[in-house]
Amino acid sequence: MTPIQLSKHLLNITDIEAEASRLMEPGLRSNVNDGVLNNETLEANVDAFKQLRIRPRYMVDVSQRDLSVKVVGGDTIPMPIAGSPSALHKRFHPDGEFATGKGIRQKSTVMILSSYSSITIEELAAAEPDLIKWFQMYIYCDRNMTIDLAQRAKQSGYRALVLTVDYTTRGRRYHDIKNQFKNIYPKVNYNRYNVSQLSKVVAKDNVWRDIRWLKETTGLPIVIKGILTAEDARLAVDNGADAILVSNHGGRQLDGSPATLEALPEIVEAVGREVDVYMDGGVRTGADVFKALAIGAKVVFVGRPVCWGLICNGSDGVRQVLDILYNELDNYMTIAGTPTVGDITRNHIRYT
Ligand code: FNR
Ligand code: LAC
Repeated sequence: MTPIQLSKHLLNITDIEAEASRLMEPGLRSNVNDGVLNNETLEANVDAFKQLRIRPRYMVDVSQRDLSVKVVGGDTIPMPIAGSPSALHKRFHPDGEFATGKGIRQKSTVMILSSYSSITIEELAAAEPDLIKWFQMYIYCDRNMTIDLAQRAKQSGYRALVLTVDYTTRGRRYHDIKNQFKNIYPKVNYNRYNVSQLSKVVAKDNVWRDIRWLKETTGLPIVIKGILTAEDARLAVDNGADAILVSNHGGRQLDGSPATLEALPEIVEAVGREVDVYMDGGVRTGADVFKALAIGAKVVFVGRPVCWGLICNGSDGVRQVLDILYNELDNYMTIAGTPTVGDITRNHIRYT
């Protein structure tokens, strides 16, 4: 994999996806780009955006625009776009998460570090003190490990914990089996723990109570990632969640589950007045961001686009991915007559 200089022919996320896909060897390409089973949900994530049309309003003063939003933890970020967690960035670039962190910090937005990261919680914090970092983890059967990871994130200056709830076991990824895909760091320790420890996660009713436990123990805001129903959103919030990240793990877990854009309205309706609702899955353009915001998402996160940018050109590639989405969204907001993100409402979209 030889990183290339991003040039003027890589204008949008589709171009960057194509270039990154060319650079990855087939097993890795499939592991990153594919979903689970028949890729239905993976494709639905992207297609759902095409079911919405934007209703522009003209003759609005859009000379001054403000794309900034406030997120949990109290930080204000200059755009409603940030980085989802993904595992093992040293697969994508020799500098791994150091490069990802640098690219995201240059755009002053949030990076969620995966618990399956190729550098530790502390290493990222030491290299990128000014980056707004959230840490993604699970509630593990091993409570000591759960609290250890959470406390280490807190002590290293991370601003929130992101609890992923849709990974009770790995989805059936036939493509990985066919390709006999093995991560190139199969035996590494992730944040000082091994895969067998990290894969034993709790999945029972009282996991909701653990939200409050983790929140009280660390004092950090808790974001619940992987929610797809109003019922679970309600339970999460009633048990102390500070935000919901609507996600289907990029179509990598339960094929046939809804596209995140489809799940978003019921969750916004259920808890959107009480907590922030974020989303990820299939966001590839500024228009997609606009549509998600119109339904009520406060911030969208991107998973694969960050990986693709990193593969193409390290930290500069990551920054370029964020630049592209920022510029496209700013351009949309200008033409659609919504100078601030708060101006983007349901009236600005319609279903086809
Ligand atoms: C992921 N995702 C993920 N999620 C999580 O909570 N912990 C993790 O370690 C990972 N790892 C991971 C690796 C790779 C290669 C991908 C592509 C995804 C899911 C990720 O956070 C996010 O939910 C999706 O990637 C969002 O969809 P898009 O933006 O990729 O379409
Ligand atoms: C994935 C895991 C690591 O989706 O979350 O590959």
